[in-house]
Amino acid sequence: MNDIFIPQSEIERQKEIAKSLHPITNGKKACVITFGCQQNENDSELMAGILELCGYEITDNSELAEMIIINTCAIREHAEIRALSEAGQFKGRKANNRNIKIGLCGCMAQQSHRREQIYKSYPYVDFVFGTDMHYKLPEIIKTSFESKKRVSFITEKSHDCFGTISEGMPIRRESSYKAWVPVMYGCNNFCTYCVVPFARGRERSRNKDDVIAEVKSLVERGYKDITLLGQNVNSYNGGCDFADLLDACASFDGEYRVRFMTSHPKDASSKLVDVIANNKNVAKHFHLPVQSGSSRVLKLMNRKYDREQYLAKAMEIREKIPDIALTTDIICGFPTETETDFSDTMSLVKTVGFDMIYTFIYSPRVGTVAAKMDGQIPKDVSNARFKALSDMENDIAQSLNEKFVGKTLRVLSDGVNKNGIPCGRSTQNKIVTFDKVVPAGEFADVTIETVGAYALMGKIK
Ligand code: SAH
Ligand code: SF4
Ligand code: F3S
Repeated sequence: MNDIFIPQSEIERQKEIAKSLHPITNGKKACVITFGCQQNENDSELMAGILELCGYEITDNSELAEMIIINTCAIREHAEIRALSEAGQFKGRKANNRNIKIGLCGCMAQQSHRREQIYKSYPYVDFVFGTDMHYKLPEIIKTSFESKKRVSFITEKSHDCFGTISEGMPIRRESSYKAWVPVMYGCNNFCTYCVVPFARGRERSRNKDDVIAEVKSLVERGYKDITLLGQNVNSYNGGCDFADLLDACASFDGEYRVRFMTSHPKDASSKLVDVIANNKNVAKHFHLPVQSGSSRVLKLMNRKYDREQYLAKAMEIREKIPDIALTTDIICGFPTETETDFSDTMSLVKTVGFDMIYTFIYSPRVGTVAAKMDGQIPKDVSNARFKALSDMENDIAQSLNEKFVGKTLRVLSDGVNKNGIPCGRSTQNKIVTFDKVVPAGEFADVTIETVGAYALMGKIK
């Protein structure tokens, strides 16, 4: 599997190309527009770092940029439509200014039917590249400047069998106190509804020494909230298991928190639960996507656990870590989902008592098994189930939060929210608002006075 690692000589070659671009990029601005999950946000931060190396100044304002990269998501149809309409915005600008370059990457770019659509309907997109090509950005930009035609950098292996790891390119982080650190890429699970294994390739882990060194350096530079990323962190195998990696990342001196996303219930180990319980620097938040409460539907989804196994894992977590926040993902309207299946989901949610649920309406994805299943559910039925679940969850979240009234929580300040109110996050990742401004990135003790379903309100102690 060693050939998944891009050789350092190739990384150095890309850095040389980046430097050679300075005469062309001098004084120009670049902008990366991001859709999708934390993995994409991290990729965008990497691309911003590489664009800086190429000589661009980074801006959030695409109006000012002559290099625009759209990092897309394909998880649901809605995400794809948003990315395509973003790309459409640049048609007029490109017509007025030929010097503007537009690139498109991310999970949509990795799908051949979407690439064909982009080639046909978005001729002003100058270059397209896949999800494991970021390190090659200098070469992609250089080729695009030299070529009159559109360029495309996609791994031309079988579409479900690709993936590399590159180390050593610069990163430009958005925050000075919160950071994403990928531990692995890709996914091998092939849940029948999901596009990720096709868009991100096979599971591959970074070396543990690289991950631990990155976390150590972040902690030394004052980062306080570090999230280890992977589609299924429990499959991590870069020199140790994930529980040991998490423990090592959370064992440096100083006050900081380590989180992780996401853990697949089929292999969330008791050892991992123990590390969260026993290491004070591991955040007390466990995101454990259940997807459905019906064993019949879970089987059709290829999730490899059933309702009882999930319930047992959730109970183990709640028992071993009483102050944990448990959150989950649920899909409403998976093909053939009956009222009985849905009521199994409702009853599981009631039994576990989730602090928060990310509820999604099933969206058929090209190339997945579920998209071809009989028994697709009408939109109005899925919508009604979505609403019933959200309404019930509001009540559950509100009553779970009541236990915090009168308690003092350690909160990492985010400065002020968009309404000017001081705010931050507890170890459970709950939003906390309070009475006095604390600089972003500093910890404060807040005594909770009132609670809502999705926020706690209190005073600085
Ligand atoms: N790797 C993570 C999930 C990443 S995708 C995991 O396995 O937990 C985030 C969430 O999007 C999934 O948990 C699922 O609830 C939702 N999702 C994925 N594909 C979907 C689809 N086709 N329609 C609706 N929701 C979907
Ligand atoms: Fe998708 Fe399943 Fe992989 Fe998560 S584990 S990314 S839901 S295939
Ligand atoms: Fe979207 Fe790709 Fe993430 S499909 S959710 S950006 S892995």
